[in-house]
Amino acid sequence: MNRNIVCIGAGYIGGPTMAVIAKMNPGRKVIVVDISKERIDAWNSTDFRLPIYEPGLEEVVREVRGRNLFFSTDIAAAVKECDIVFVGVNTPTKMFGRGAGRASDLQYWESSARTIKEVANGDKIIVEKSTLPVRTAAAMDAILNFGDSPYRFTVLSNPEFLAEGTAIRDLLAPNRVLIGGPQTPEGQSAVAALVDIYAGEGGAWVPREKILTTNVWSAELTKLAANAMLAQRVSSINALAGLCEATGADVEEVARVMGADRRIGDKFLKAGPGFGGSCFKKDVLNLVYLCEIFGLHTAAEYWNGVIRMNEHQQERIVSRLFKAMFNTLANKKVAMFGFAFKADTGDTRETPAGRVARLLNEEHVRLAITDPKALVNARKDLAGLDRIDLVEDPYLAAREADAILLMTDWREYPKLDWKRLYDSMRKPAIVFDTRNCLDHAQLKEIGFKVLAVGK
Ligand SMILES: NC(=O)c1ccc[n+]([C@@H]2O[C@H](COP(=O)([O-])OP(=O)(O)OC[C@H]3O[C@@H](n4cnc5c(N)ncnc54)[C@H](O)[C@@H]3O)[C@@H](O)[C@H]2O)c1
Repeated sequence: MNRNIVCIGAGYIGGPTMAVIAKMNPGRKVIVVDISKERIDAWNSTDFRLPIYEPGLEEVVREVRGRNLFFSTDIAAAVKECDIVFVGVNTPTKMFGRGAGRASDLQYWESSARTIKEVANGDKIIVEKSTLPVRTAAAMDAILNFGDSPYRFTVLSNPEFLAEGTAIRDLLAPNRVLIGGPQTPEGQSAVAALVDIYAGEGGAWVPREKILTTNVWSAELTKLAANAMLAQRVSSINALAGLCEATGADVEEVARVMGADRRIGDKFLKAGPGFGGSCFKKDVLNLVYLCEIFGLHTAAEYWNGVIRMNEHQQERIVSRLFKAMFNTLANKKVAMFGFAFKADTGDTRETPAGRVARLLNEEHVRLAITDPKALVNARKDLAGLDRIDLVEDPYLAAREADAILLMTDWREYPKLDWKRLYDSMRKPAIVFDTRNCLDHAQLKEIGFKVLAVGK
């Protein structure tokens, strides 16, 4: 068995994860492959216009690309060259047939498994990097080891816990790495081979005590469970935010005091426009589907409530803006500050800003959207909608606007010249800070009417 690594899927997971694996394992060759030529070309671009934005990513790619990290569309050649195969393809929510709207669409994942089997030239360790429903490894094992193939494939689950926006930091110093493997001698030796990768060359990467090993099913379920718990905290604090607004309590004060209790903890207690990103909704829906399949209907309903609450939060934002703008939004101009689902990423998948933009569009609002990194994706997401301008300069976006609706907590927004913004707007000028990241007292002093979440 050789030490080379291939990753199928060069997206938000495959790209950064493999770049860091290559950095910490300079003695291994790492190849990232994808069916999308456009994506691979971007990863290989001479001017480092990479297909995704992550702080620190470009530096790592500059260090390792061409040294021991390579990007290619030749999937067969790469699989032949490597005995350790990560599969990091997309597993979106299925939009058709059985389980539509809840189950994961596993077609990309299954096609990867079939390709591996077709082109394999020796025994391989297959590492599930994508987030998958529990027991997917059994299906992968069945496809790979079916029939009279002379080669053995051992399937491990190694879900990724990085967060977009801090991907490189999370990868370099993870809270934990999870590896699930079959409880057989063959399975355990595959687990050891993967532990060796995460330990890094000379043991310089993840400390051994942070590499947690479990059986395959626990590993697959843990990833869904962890995302569901995080999403649940966001929905819980947002549910409390509505009550704070109604009663005069301040959600930030409530969160600060609750978070001081070590049993609760202070992370992920920030009220806002709701969660976004490609994972939380998809993974909670997947959990809902699994609960339904196993007859756990009350549990399914409970997790579904997390999604419902998230959608409600965006509806509430639009309702509050509507009320503050004298119950009519038609032909008014709203400047949306931020479209990415969170700061430090250009990713707009499931971004709360997208849903709010559509709801405002239904009200015939004229929307000027600005974002430092996400306008390319925003253009694709909102294609076909009228009355939407995408504007790089926030001052231009706010000119003659009736309201600024801050949706993403980019660090540059609090530093803007808010007096200058105010002077260029129609009066009464409204700021709705859905991230509670601006200085509200100062804004009020300037003359703004300020709306915030949970206060
Ligand atoms: N994005 C995150 O923050 C994150 C975090 C943890 C886990 N995950 C999981 O990782 C997986 C990938 O997510 P992502 O955000 O990187 O998705 P993505 O859409 O950015 O990337 C997936 C890539 O796989 C490629 N692909 C699909 N089928 C292929 C095939 N048969 N052969 C070769 N390439 C193929 C696509 O072209 C695409 O470039 C998902 O299961 C997701 O749930 C994502």
